[in-house]
Amino acid sequence: MQENRAQTLAQIFSQTRALLQEHTERGVRYLSMEDSELQLPPCSQSAKGEPLRSHEECRRETLAEVRSELGECRRCALASTRNRLVFGDGDPHARLVFVGEGPGREEDERGEPFVGEAGRLLERMLFAMKLERREVYICNVIKCRPPGNRNPQPEEIQACEPFLQRQLKAIQPQVIVALGKFAAQTLLQQQTPISQLRGRWQQYAGIPLMPTFHPAYLLRNPAGKKEVWEDLKLVLQRLQQED
Ligand code: URA
Repeated sequence: MQENRAQTLAQIFSQTRALLQEHTERGVRYLSMEDSELQLPPCSQSAKGEPLRSHEECRRETLAEVRSELGECRRCALASTRNRLVFGDGDPHARLVFVGEGPGREEDERGEPFVGEAGRLLERMLFAMKLERREVYICNVIKCRPPGNRNPQPEEIQACEPFLQRQLKAIQPQVIVALGKFAAQTLLQQQTPISQLRGRWQQYAGIPLMPTFHPAYLLRNPAGKKEVWEDLKLVLQRLQQED
């Protein structure tokens, strides 16, 4: 328990440091709490926890706030079998977000997404896109490893989904890539097979979303890499258009 709390704090510190570093890189030398919009409550809730109507009354939640509210989550049964909760990793203001399925063994041990074999393939995909891992944001539909890497259950997805939505709202990326069936079907709220969804632009909350095959699938079916590369080229084109 103590160790979990320390890990949660370490993750919050690391995200706060990333945020401050980014401000520094943009030339911000100090933050004034008097003028800062940080004085407004985050949009997801008022100070009393009530939903807010007017945009003026609230500000966008930060990723660090979403992480902090998730805490040492025990909202579903996976809490009792996980080692570490895997929130997400990367630039809190990334233009491009990758959403995977859920942590595997190595991710569960390290508390970071996509650090196992599938992660190494994802990094090769990023390299081909001329992107570095720290430039994008990577997260999963579910934040805790299912025992034996089984598929996530509907109640586990349901428990985690509000946090995925809040992560994406906090980041507001220009493009989302949904890796595999669970990411695509959860974000798009439909049951269409990934083989039919992939390669066609979709929308998630007004953000262009490209569904493609999951890297773990590609490890078993390397022939699919060609199609994924076609999908990723469309993503690069879209990002260029947004420049
Ligand atoms: N597969 C996923 O979907 N996510 C990870 O973080 C690792 C493997």
